[in-house]
Amino acid sequence: MRLVFRVGGSVVASPVNTDLMKKYVEVLLSLKMHGHDVVVVVGGGALARQFINIAQNLGLEMTAQDEVAISVSRLFAQLFLKKFGSAACSNVSVTLEDVAEGLRAGKIVVMGGLKPGITTDTVAALVAEQVNADLLVKGTDQDGIYNKDPRKYRDAVKLDHISFEDLDSVFSESQHTAGIHQIIDPEAVKVLKRARVKLVVVNGFDPENFLAAVNGEKIGTIVN
Ligand code: UTP
Repeated sequence: MRLVFRVGGSVVASPVNTDLMKKYVEVLLSLKMHGHDVVVVVGGGALARQFINIAQNLGLEMTAQDEVAISVSRLFAQLFLKKFGSAACSNVSVTLEDVAEGLRAGKIVVMGGLKPGITTDTVAALVAEQVNADLLVKGTDQDGIYNKDPRKYRDAVKLDHISFEDLDSVFSESQHTAGIHQIIDPEAVKVLKRARVKLVVVNGFDPENFLAAVNGEKIGTIVN
């Protein structure tokens, strides 16, 4: 299968959890060994948000704020890439063309952000569309998608399965702001819907959840 994984910065980088990063590398390497094509998109987490704040305090505009956050996400991507060793491309991918080229070379592809004005969720979705992925799995800091924000509402219910159409109603309207955090960026959902790529949102604190999602087990929230 052709697989795109989105590792939340909120999971591995807020605070930085090197044990968890190592486990991710093991799990993703094992998927590669089993013959799957693997693309990993990493976010910048708390450090990216810290840099966004610094940029804001300097009076820099949104594009510059996004750019520094992208740089931070690429640093985390670089750490993953180095840890994958020769199984991965020699550099962090910074364009969709790099991704296609890395996959053609039979390597694990690792990337952070792509361009200002989007989130790494949308990067992962654009990659999935570009390479005709079979599945996008997002590892986040919640057990899946809820019918409303579980951090605000105690009666929020986790959804085991939802269609792309119904998912629209779960989101409130939102415009891009640097550092915006939602369970999954609605912009990414739009891309996945048009590209017909299945999405599974799982708790990212257990990398085994990625394996379960790939194996088609009932885990997190399945969106298709
Ligand atoms: P994310 O919010 O996508 O990363 O990017 P994250 O930390 O992994 O997110 P969680 O863990 O799912 O919450 C951080 C910020 O980087 C900028 C945006 O400002 C975004 O909010 N960014 C990221 C871009 O501008 N372009 C990109 O391609 C990626």
